[in-house]
Amino acid sequence: MAAPDGVVGVEGAAVKQHLSCQIRPPGMKKRPQFGTRFLTDPRQVLPAQRMVGHSLQKPSRRKMFGLHLYQRQSRLQSAGLPDQEQRSEVAAFAHTDGDIPGSSAKYRIMEVGCGVGNTVFPILKTNNDPGLFVYCCDFSSTAVELVKSNPEYDPERCFAFVHDLSDVEANCPVPDGTLDVIVLIFVFSALHPDKMQASISRLARLLKPGGVILLRDYGRYDMAQLRFKKGRCLSENFYVRGDGTRVYFFTQDELHEMFTQAGLDKVQNLVDRRLQVNRGKQITMYRVWIQCKYRKAVAEPLETQG
Ligand SMILES: C[S@@+](CC[C@H](N)C(=O)[O-])C[C@H]1O[C@@H](n2cnc3c(N)ncnc32)[C@H](O)[C@@H]1O
Repeated sequence: MAAPDGVVGVEGAAVKQHLSCQIRPPGMKKRPQFGTRFLTDPRQVLPAQRMVGHSLQKPSRRKMFGLHLYQRQSRLQSAGLPDQEQRSEVAAFAHTDGDIPGSSAKYRIMEVGCGVGNTVFPILKTNNDPGLFVYCCDFSSTAVELVKSNPEYDPERCFAFVHDLSDVEANCPVPDGTLDVIVLIFVFSALHPDKMQASISRLARLLKPGGVILLRDYGRYDMAQLRFKKGRCLSENFYVRGDGTRVYFFTQDELHEMFTQAGLDKVQNLVDRRLQVNRGKQITMYRVWIQCKYRKAVAEPLETQG
């Protein structure tokens, strides 16, 4: 199904805006898009080249908040138990009769592992089509509360809820076969590898025919993987960070295999290798990210079905 007017292009926005979410006051000139400058002379990257694997910057408030979320996530993971708040919210929803929020929308996007809404709010801001509805979930009830308390959260256009992507038996308030787009940004890598296939297959069921999953996540040999010290490796290419959160580093083939096993077809599967440069701190960082777009087949017309 085609996107309604004004919604076209939202798939790209989800990923792009995640990386550079700037709110521009009226009249201010648009900054060049992040990541579009290509340096051809390696000597120009930094005046004094220094390869460092980590930033020395004082953490921003946003990063500090992220740390808080990670710590909470790690406490829950270590306890191996779902959060009480989380269980009651899901249970309350499960007993709700009637329409779910957004049930009359024409175009539905869901972000899984939404954190504080760094993708959701830009999507809502750049797409004013009344037919658009955005769902977002995270297994951290703190994150979901923060999304809901954001002044840009509009319950007429958005619904945030607590949900654990890896719990495929859990009740998901979004019915199967209703989503146009599912966005996964640096969340799939947090799952235990044993849970990945079932989780992606569960998400695929939520898509409409023709719906897509957009993913951006860590690729094999990203700088973060190379920096892990001995003792942090849980299994092949799967590590635990100092805060207890876990991270897997994918190859394109692994992701392709999982998406196709879930019944989805490849539209895009690429490696985004980039050199991140912090000129202020004289730091260069080699990033390896994977970006995927997989589509659920549109049902064949009746006359061609065998
Ligand atoms: C690196 S953050 C990314 C947040 C957001 N996608 C963004 O790009 O700003 C990963 C998020 O995934 C959430 N998360 C991790 N495991 C999850 C799971 N099993 N189910 C749902 N959310 C999860 C974390 O709580 C965290 O908010």
